[in-house]
Amino acid sequence: MERIKPYVKEIEEALAAIQLPAAPKKLYEPLLYMFDLGGKRIRPALVLLGAELFGRQDRSDVMPLALAIELFHNFTLIHDDIMDNAPLRRGKETVYKKWNTNVGILSGDVLLVKAYQMISRCSESILAEVLAVFNAVAVEVCEGQQLDMDFESLDFISKQEYIDMIRLKTSVLLGCALKMGAICAGANATNQQAIYEYGVNLGIAFQLQDDILDVYGDENRVGKQIGGDILENKKTILLVTLMERLGEKDRGELKITLHRNYDREQDKIQQVMALYREHNVLEEATKLKEYYSNKAFKILESLPVDEGKKVLLNGLSHALLNRLS
Ligand code: IPE
Ligand code: IPE
Ligand code: MG
Ligand code: MG
Ligand code: MG
Repeated sequence: MERIKPYVKEIEEALAAIQLPAAPKKLYEPLLYMFDLGGKRIRPALVLLGAELFGRQDRSDVMPLALAIELFHNFTLIHDDIMDNAPLRRGKETVYKKWNTNVGILSGDVLLVKAYQMISRCSESILAEVLAVFNAVAVEVCEGQQLDMDFESLDFISKQEYIDMIRLKTSVLLGCALKMGAICAGANATNQQAIYEYGVNLGIAFQLQDDILDVYGDENRVGKQIGGDILENKKTILLVTLMERLGEKDRGELKITLHRNYDREQDKIQQVMALYREHNVLEEATKLKEYYSNKAFKILESLPVDEGKKVLLNGLSHALLNRLS
C-alpha cells in the first residue's frame, strides 16, 4: 500500500474539497463523518491507475470519476451497516448507530446522488459511456447485496452461489473503477474488457480476504467488529467452505449451532471458530483467494501495455491480498 500513498493523498485532497451545505445537519454531517474516517481508498486509486496504465496522466475526467466511485462506495457502506447490524466502521461507530437508521438511509441516499453529480462533470465525449458502465454495475451491487441478505436465512449455499454473490456485491465495482480509468485513457474495447476482468478477479480475492479478516483480523486494524459475520449467519467463504465439508448429519448440527440462543456473543463466535479449525477452513479459503488473485495476475500479465506501467498495479494487488486492514 506504501507505493500508492501519493495517489491516496491526491484523492483525500480532492474529497476534502467537495463542498457540502451546512444544513440540514443530520443529512450532511454523516457524510463528512464518513469521509473523515478515512478508508483505504482502493477504488478511486484503481481509477487513477487504470487511466495511467493506458497512458493518461492528467486528472480531468479521471478524478471526478475516482471520486464518484468512492462516494458510491461510501453510500453502500452506510446502508450495508444498517443491513448487517454492524456497530463499527473504520474504527468508529457506524452512521446509523451514531445517529439513527433514518439518518443512515437518507444520508446514504444523498451520497448516491452526489456520486452521480460527480459523474456528470465528465466530458461529453465519454459521459454516455461511463454512465452506462456505472449504471450497470450499481444495479449489480444492489443485486449482490440482496443475495447476501437472502443467504443469511438459507441453510446451505454452494461455493459457486457464494462466488456469484460476491462478484456482484463487491467485485464488479473494482472492475468498474479500472474500466472507467481505461475509458478516460481511450483504451480499446478489448483492453477495457481485460482490465475489467482483472478487477473482478482481484475483487473476488479482496472479498475473500474481507471475510477472513472478519474472523481472524485484529479489530484495531480492521476497524470492524470481529465475528460480526458469524453473529449474522453470513454465508462467508468460511461458513460456505465448512458447509461443503460437512456431511448431512453434521450440517444439521451446524444449523442448530447457528440458530441457538447464546448468553454471550463470544460463545457463538468461539463455537463456530472451533469448527473452522477442526475442518481446516482457513487454509482452504486462503487457497481459493490465491486462485483468484493468480487469475487476476495472469490477465494483467497478458495486457499489451508497457511492463513498467504494470508494476504499481501489481504491487497494489499483492498488498490487497495480504492486507490486515
Ligand atoms: C469494505 O470495503 C466493503 C467491502 C466490499 C469488503 P473496503 O475494505 O475497501 O473499505 P474501506 O473503504 O477501506 O473502509
Ligand atoms: C459489503 O460486504 C459489500 C458492500 C458494501 C456493497 P460486507 O458486508 O462484507 O462489507 P463489510 O465487511 O461490512 O465492510
Ligand atoms: Mg457489512
Ligand atoms: Mg454486508
Ligand atoms: Mg465483510
